Amino acid sequence: MVLGDRPVREGSRVKEGVLIEPQSGASYVIKDFIPRFVAHEDYAANFGLEWTIHSRTQYDEHSGFPVSQERFERDTRWGQDLRGEVILEVGSGSGRFTSSALKTGATIVSIDYSRAVEANYRSNGSHENLLLVQASVYEMPFRRNYFTKAFCLGVLQHTPDPREAFMSIVRHVKPGGSIAADVYTKSLRMWLLNTKYWVRPLIDRSDPRALYDKVKRYVDLMWPLVRLVRNIPGLGVRLPSRLLILDYSRLIPKADDTTLKEWALLDTFDMLSPTYDKPQTPKAFRRWFEEAGLTEIDVRASRQSKSTTVGTAVREQPRAAVGTPPEGVRASKYPDGRPRDVSVA
Ligand SMILES: C[S@@+](CC[C@H](N)C(=O)[O-])C[C@H]1O[C@@H](n2cnc3c(N)ncnc32)[C@H](O)[C@@H]1O
Repeated sequence: MVLGDRPVREGSRVKEGVLIEPQSGASYVIKDFIPRFVAHEDYAANFGLEWTIHSRTQYDEHSGFPVSQERFERDTRWGQDLRGEVILEVGSGSGRFTSSALKTGATIVSIDYSRAVEANYRSNGSHENLLLVQASVYEMPFRRNYFTKAFCLGVLQHTPDPREAFMSIVRHVKPGGSIAADVYTKSLRMWLLNTKYWVRPLIDRSDPRALYDKVKRYVDLMWPLVRLVRNIPGLGVRLPSRLLILDYSRLIPKADDTTLKEWALLDTFDMLSPTYDKPQTPKAFRRWFEEAGLTEIDVRASRQSKSTTVGTAVREQPRAAVGTPPEGVRASKYPDGRPRDVSVA
């Protein structure tokens, strides 16, 4: 892509301009420092609003507890020093995991479909190792087989076709590169006990702002009850969650009441407002990894939330590169040519 005429710069950055794809002639605007590959937010407008209002709520610096950093490290298992890696993040939201990923020293290319990218830019945009782009996982403006790693947390279930979204991410990772993704867990128990799946069909989602205001009034109304039952064993966590209010007082014990209520409001809106909420069974999720030809697959329950399944894997090296055996070493082969094992002559 080439930069069109008369870009507006601020320092070394392009604030406004046009990117042109020379072969097709297609052009894409750069607005507020962010290249935009989608014309509007479409079904993700609720997330645009959510992360504009709650642009800092889940940042560790704001809550005072390393929830996001720990989840990033635990769910990716990539360690803390990733200098030299070029990592794709899909569905950044406010950018709390972008911030965690940047701390590893890697170069991060982060996309989101909604204007959440603007909230992310306000928090992380000045970082020299970050490229932020507004784009959809289904049509990413990047080369295939390019990134050394990719992660996608809290996103797949909110896309119209979670499996295809997953496959698109895999296609952009280079052979030998790693993938980490999660998805809401589908189970009979979860469907029966998770009130949101009963309430969601009744919700009018046509106007995210109106829905947010309603959710806020509801959380304001219920919050005194949450505080009242908080310390009752057995009931303290279960009752609020059945009433669609998540109380994080155990996860972030030092947080003050205002912070806990802010998290609860964000979560209740996050449960009810998404256009798509497509949980997957752990078995189906694992099958995607297998069908994508990934290796070192580890699909497991998330330690932070019972209702999430996490998976990590590595994209297989092309067969030709897997190894011509050194001299004196003979590989026996399957009929289709794959090496069966290696024996020393
Ligand atoms: C629940 S939020 C998670 C944000 C962030 N990963 C986190 O956990 O804090 C889901 C995000 O996925 C984004 N999203 C939904 N569909 C997408 C798509 N087709 N391509 C890229 N991002 C998408 C939404 O805009 C939203 O910001």
